[in-house]
Amino acid sequence: MGDGWHQQPAGRPALPENYFQKPSPARMWNYLQGGKDNYPLDRSAGDAMAAAQPDSFYLARQARRFLSRAVRSVAVEAGVRQFLDLGCGLPAPRGLDNVHEVAQSAHPDARVVYVDNDRVVLAHAEALLTPLTPAGRCAYIEADVHDVRPILVRAGETLDFTRPIGVIMIGILGHVADFDEALGLVDEVMGAASAGSCLVVGDGVDDDSAMRQGIARRNESGIAPYHLRTVEQFQSYFRGLELLRPGIVPVTLWRPEPTEVGAARPVPSSAGVARKAA
Ligand SMILES: C[S@@+](CC[C@H](N)C(=O)[O-])C[C@H]1O[C@@H](n2cnc3c(N)ncnc32)[C@H](O)[C@@H]1O
Repeated sequence: MGDGWHQQPAGRPALPENYFQKPSPARMWNYLQGGKDNYPLDRSAGDAMAAAQPDSFYLARQARRFLSRAVRSVAVEAGVRQFLDLGCGLPAPRGLDNVHEVAQSAHPDARVVYVDNDRVVLAHAEALLTPLTPAGRCAYIEADVHDVRPILVRAGETLDFTRPIGVIMIGILGHVADFDEALGLVDEVMGAASAGSCLVVGDGVDDDSAMRQGIARRNESGIAPYHLRTVEQFQSYFRGLELLRPGIVPVTLWRPEPTEVGAARPVPSSAGVARKAA
């Protein structure tokens, strides 16, 4: 285990009894992103989604590329050196980045706290999400975002909440069934963050019938359900914050990098990055 990791208490609880009998959101997303840390049940759930929404594989990888561009912008442009990644998922498959890799490339002393409620994500993270630089730190918290207060307390062991923090929420708010609760979660985290902090959100939106069908097929697989939001609901996650350019756009169109062939195409997943003013 790398330096800087918080040890979980000895005698970590065993995996839930039915852990491998249902698809997991983290493993299914890993499959769609082109990873190998998944099982047939996860691949079936991903394939069911992709049968209805063929852009599912493209969307999953592009959401992760948005993460890289957003973290780089927040680190370089806004000068943020600490990040809280809620619903971090399994370590990124080859060709995609983890938050600390981008953040510590920009600032070698950057600190990153990863949070997820999937025990297998924890095991992989401890092994693989180790600091890129001697001065950098990574920590992992196994927790459910529905109860965010204790997460903020534990994150405070690694992050200094009196200084700006980059809060990453990609593919997580749709796992909170009640929209008002999801909104309250964003408010609570950004309320605890200092001026100059940035919020990065990416999530599926319900403006596409294939996406609606894809998520319905996914949810029928027995996996923890995901809830699409309207574009207006997505916009309200940023209330009271200053949106960075280009505002709220499909994940593929948030400051896209040049492609060798063609151009990035829109997908039914929205992205936005905003800053908390002084
Ligand atoms: C769609 S994946 C996104 C992973 C990563 N953020 C990315 O963009 O590649 C959603 C992640 O949220 C995690 N998750 C779902 N519900 C959660 C909850 N209630 N608390 C914490 N993590 C949760 C899942 O385990 C999964 O790793």
